[in-house]
Amino acid sequence: MQVTMTVNGEEVTREIEGRLLLVHFLRDHLQLTGTHWGCDTSNCGTCVVRLDGEPVKSCTVLAAMAGGHEVRTVEGLEQNGELDPVQRGFIECHGLQCGFCTPGMMMTARALLDSDPDPSDEEIREAISGQICRCTGYATIVRSIRWAAAEEAGTRTTAPDTEAPAAEQPAGEEPVATTTGSAS
Ligand code: FES
Ligand code: FES
Repeated sequence: MQVTMTVNGEEVTREIEGRLLLVHFLRDHLQLTGTHWGCDTSNCGTCVVRLDGEPVKSCTVLAAMAGGHEVRTVEGLEQNGELDPVQRGFIECHGLQCGFCTPGMMMTARALLDSDPDPSDEEIREAISGQICRCTGYATIVRSIRWAAAEEAGTRTTAPDTEAPAAEQPAGEEPVATTTGSAS
C-alpha cells in the first residue's frame, strides 16, 4: 500500500506493508534514526514522536494510520540551524548520559511546553512518566525541561542550578508519577 504523510514539514510518500509500525517507517524508510526503538512492550518511550502535535509512542502506531497526518521527530526540533530551547536545556543541565532515551524525552518535553509554558516539577514528571531513562535518575531531565521553560519565558537569569540530583530522586528510580502520562 502507499502512504503519504508530512514529516518535519515535508510531504513524503512511500510503498509500505500495512503492518509496518511508524517507528520503523521513520527509521528504515526515511532514515530518521533519531527516533529510537527500545522495547517490544510499549514501555520505554524512546520512540516518542509528535503526531498532529500530540506525543505518541511511534511503536504503537501503524505507519498507515499516520497517513494524511503531520509527524514531527527529534530531527525537526532544530529550526534554521538553531537548537530548540529543549535541546539546549538538555545540554546545559546534563539531561543525558548515554542519550538513548533523549529523543523521546525531548519530544515529550517540547509538547509539554507547547501546551503549558510553565509546568511544575510534578507536571514535568507526570509528562515523562511513560518513559524510561536508565542513566540520569530523572532529576537532570526535569531540570533540563525547567531550564527550557525559563529560557523561553525570558526568566532564566543564571547558569543552570546545581542542586544535587540525589536530593530529588535517587539515580535509577522511576519518575514519581507512574501513570501513562502524555506519552501514551
Ligand atoms: S520502543 Fe519502547 S515504547 Fe516504543
Ligand atoms: S540517558 Fe541513558 S537511558 Fe536516558
